Amino acid sequence: MKPQTIIAANWKMNMTNTDAAAFAREFKRIYKGQGDVKTVICAPYTSLSVLTAEFKGTGIYVGAQNMYYEEKGTFTGEISCAMLADIGVTYVILGHSERRAKFGETDENVNKKVHAALSNGLTPIICVGETLEQRNAGITAEWVMGQVRSALTGVDAAGAARCVIAYEPIWAISKGAVLSGDKSLVATSETANDACGGIHNVLKDLYGADTADKITIQYGGSMDGINCTDLLAQSYISGGLIGGASLNAENFSEIVRKAQELNVPKGVY
Ligand code: 13P
Repeated sequence: MKPQTIIAANWKMNMTNTDAAAFAREFKRIYKGQGDVKTVICAPYTSLSVLTAEFKGTGIYVGAQNMYYEEKGTFTGEISCAMLADIGVTYVILGHSERRAKFGETDENVNKKVHAALSNGLTPIICVGETLEQRNAGITAEWVMGQVRSALTGVDAAGAARCVIAYEPIWAISKGAVLSGDKSLVATSETANDACGGIHNVLKDLYGADTADKITIQYGGSMDGINCTDLLAQSYISGGLIGGASLNAENFSEIVRKAQELNVPKGVY
């Protein structure tokens, strides 16, 4: 069986609190229930409380886009797992390529954050992915597998089964396919599936097939309401992490709806 399908929005540094509340009301109006698909909205810290209140009882989950691994103390500007859990946040994106490239996030930090998230009952969405240079140099598999292994160092099978891995090729992120209609910069379904299959194999190697089969692997990088069907139909892709196309309730719900339509069990890998 394919793992749980999870469609997650990553709003990045977009949406004021007012925008978030308006989105939530609009999304609830359009949204037709979960089906077998889990829907998660990962928002800026400032809107998390508003969203957990708006989505209470709807089955829509709320996630943060980062957190710090220490419990509390002299870490000005940081947010702990307990602070997130206390307001009803259940997911957290860790190691996004933008945080790795622009804010010095390291594999070691990501690993510490994964442990902290799991200890506090949060589901980590662990992001991995290669640059165009790495892809052209033929080291995609090695790089991505290394990121997965580092992030999960010291995590046992029970913990790993609670993680989500998001494969986001950096060269395919934020290419504006939604606006421009240019699909050439989105990873083809086959390319994305190859990498996700490689991730599945590493998980199998680390934890065995039973655990690996439970771990959701998402694709992220200019996914939209059109290309999502092809991407989500691939054998190793069980969800999406969506940036640009998640900022509008109509566009995002279209992806959720298509994922629900596709979400018929496909049997074993
Ligand atoms: P886009 O969907 O805007 O390419 O963003 C992808 C992403 O980085 C999600 O985390």
